[in-house]
Amino acid sequence: MRRIGVVTAGGDAPGMNAAIRAVVRSAIYGGLEVIGIERGYAGLLEGRYRPLDRRSVSGIINLGGTILRTIRCEEIKTDEGIERAAEFLKSIRVDGLITIGGDGTFRGASRLYRASGIPVIGIPATIDNDVAGTDTTIGFDTAVNTALNAIDRIRDTATSHERIFIVEVMGRRRGFLALEVGLAGGAELILIPEIKLDLEKICDRVKRDREEGKISEIIVMAEGAGDSRQITNYIARETGQDVRLAVLGHIQRGGAPTARSRTLACEFGYKAVELLLTGESKRMVGIKGGEITSVDLDYSWMVEKEIDLSRYRLAEILSL
Ligand code: F6P
Repeated sequence: MRRIGVVTAGGDAPGMNAAIRAVVRSAIYGGLEVIGIERGYAGLLEGRYRPLDRRSVSGIINLGGTILRTIRCEEIKTDEGIERAAEFLKSIRVDGLITIGGDGTFRGASRLYRASGIPVIGIPATIDNDVAGTDTTIGFDTAVNTALNAIDRIRDTATSHERIFIVEVMGRRRGFLALEVGLAGGAELILIPEIKLDLEKICDRVKRDREEGKISEIIVMAEGAGDSRQITNYIARETGQDVRLAVLGHIQRGGAPTARSRTLACEFGYKAVELLLTGESKRMVGIKGGEITSVDLDYSWMVEKEIDLSRYRLAEILSL
């Protein structure tokens, strides 16, 4: 093994830069050269890359986003796209590829491995935390804290105006972020795709709250839990309360990574390089019970990660 490539793909996540830095420095420490693929998987199709030396990753550990950039790429999902990307990887003579991203990134990575024979290691980085085989992902902790910060502010104004606030957080398919933010933010209700939406139950809860003396509510919902605008209008109509919607959107994807996201990135980056150096070829690094581990890359996107519903129950009990 002489030269490796590194790429960030899918939605960006705070801590991706810390992961790039960790990969580059660990690889150089292990005697390898590093090529950075630019613009995500699109860069494999466009031939966009640059060498990364130890100084090229100076001063990025604290930066959100990704210096390599990441473009949503539809073409890589096709057989022809994979073939072209595999040919490109061979043409730049990389002996291994480290892909930083989420489940969609790893699905592509697995196909790239099969098409090229070049060992591929995944580093999980997504604010959604919806990757099986790891307890948490780079960026998740940062997004939780960003959303929490917003909710704390929203609670001030919700209380002053005796309003209900629906706060929509990201997560189009899964509710990990909403659940964590809801629990930590003391939300009265949490709506996640994993639990069937029951609008009547929500309205009953609000009416009961008001009878029992609560003057405002925060409802945290994952974007995949339903149409937030319709839900807002429905609750306003059925309860007669003043209801507002706050969609947090992409602010959750930006900003400086927390210490947790950075240290995870450092450990994952080092482990990914170590796996390549020890001859592994299709793995994803992860953390399980505090220990840095790895699983088969296919496990990460083929298996649906379980959400801890006891935390949902806990949030319910504590919101009484
Ligand atoms: O997968 C990460 C994520 O932030 C999701 O939570 C969200 O639904 C999606 O990306 C948004 O994607 P885009 O930035 O491409 O609109």
